[in-house]
Amino acid sequence: MKFFIDTANVKEIESALSMGLINGVTTNPSIIAREGKEFIATMKEISALIGPENYLFGEVIALKADEMVKEGRELVKLHKNFVVKIPMCAEGLKAVKQLSAAGIPTCVTLCFSVPQALLAANAGAAYVAPFIGRIDDIGWNGTQLISEIKEVFDAHGIATKIVAASTRHPVHIVDIAMLGTHIATVPFKTLLQLIEHPLSKSGLEKFLQDWESVPKK
Ligand code: G3P
Repeated sequence: MKFFIDTANVKEIESALSMGLINGVTTNPSIIAREGKEFIATMKEISALIGPENYLFGEVIALKADEMVKEGRELVKLHKNFVVKIPMCAEGLKAVKQLSAAGIPTCVTLCFSVPQALLAANAGAAYVAPFIGRIDDIGWNGTQLISEIKEVFDAHGIATKIVAASTRHPVHIVDIAMLGTHIATVPFKTLLQLIEHPLSKSGLEKFLQDWESVPKK
């Protein structure tokens, strides 16, 4: 399972890259707003930072299919591996159909059900992003949704990749990895949590403590 960092914060991206943790960066309008900087300038900065081998996901703002397509065609110029995020709605599906016909990869975002995931795949989306944390927030089960989408996609030989979005904690990551999810989009805080284990910490402390008794030259 690949990890994409869910942020537009340059320091967080740099840090995750330096540890070899990520293969891409995912953004949405809320994530962009958090940085307080202009959208395209921010995306250009991230594009230069991550290099051509990684992926960059950015979302359209338009609500009409033709305008989404226009925006998508511009956004895709920002990076070699750019994926255009399109919100799940009727106009969005029209845009996905047109963009995929033009060879532009799309990710249908704000996906909250199996039928939505199927429609996105049928429209030609290269990726679909179910928001598992937000499903949990309303008392449903986000991991269960990933499991159902995976089963349906596998049963029908659908190649659309599942990007588990809105992950909030390490248990989400373990659960979706065990399901064979292709990509997890993860906040920086959660990436750091994945590194930690109390036994790694205490084990290192003990090694260093014991090292003190090793005779030195
Ligand atoms: O990229 C979409 C996403 O991961 C949203 O996460 O925490 O706002 O539900 P969150």
